[in-house]
Amino acid sequence: MSSHHTDPILEIIASHQKAIALHDVCARVCFLATVAADGSARVRVMNLNGISGRCFELHCSEQSEKWQQLLHNPAYELLLWWPSVARQYRIRGELKIMPQFLVEKSWSQAPYSFKLLDRFYQEYQPLGSQLDSQQVLLEGLNNLKRKYPNPQDVPPPSHLRGFYCQACWIEALYIDKLRIHQRHCYSYTDNSWHHELLVP
Ligand SMILES: Cc1cc2nc3c(=O)[nH]c(=O)nc-3n(C[C@H](O)[C@H](O)[C@H](O)COP(=O)(O)O)c2cc1C
Repeated sequence: MSSHHTDPILEIIASHQKAIALHDVCARVCFLATVAADGSARVRVMNLNGISGRCFELHCSEQSEKWQQLLHNPAYELLLWWPSVARQYRIRGELKIMPQFLVEKSWSQAPYSFKLLDRFYQEYQPLGSQLDSQQVLLEGLNNLKRKYPNPQDVPPPSHLRGFYCQACWIEALYIDKLRIHQRHCYSYTDNSWHHELLVP
């Protein structure tokens, strides 16, 4: 073990900014794996809403399966893969629930179409429930558009949730063109990051 390496979060933030500048299609998303009640694995794409401190900010609905899974078992792995900068990061740690006023503040900046869909979950049918046809969804969204013509005046639905994946373990894989990759493992103990170089 050594601690000669800098904070991996700073490195992730630098890679993230580079990926955004390079218009990486994956720059604004992440892959979150959770554990279902029966112990089987689940994984899905999510928007990566921000990185600060050791925290990666994600948003979802309390109606979603992932939220129920996380309440039942807070174990997760968060994967970041940014091809433009040839970096993969795997992140594990604690789950922290985001204060609701911050969730709603962030949601107020969301695109109009996202807001209407979130209202649909509240006023028509919950997320993941069976739809009789796509037309039912489109009609509901049109009704909501008439009900809330101004994007700024769409009220936040009560099912919005946000959480932070607070990292205490990070594995960074730097992909090299010559296929001599670098694999760095960081663990957070005693208030600092400790580094190990692994066989890639
Ligand atoms: C580009 C992209 C971004 C997404 N962002 C989110 C997100 O931020 N939050 C979310 O709950 N679902 C997001 N989804 C949808 C999820 O991948 C998933 O289909 C949905 O949340 C249901 O997952 P669950 O049943 O595991 O809860 C996104 C999907 C894509 C393709």
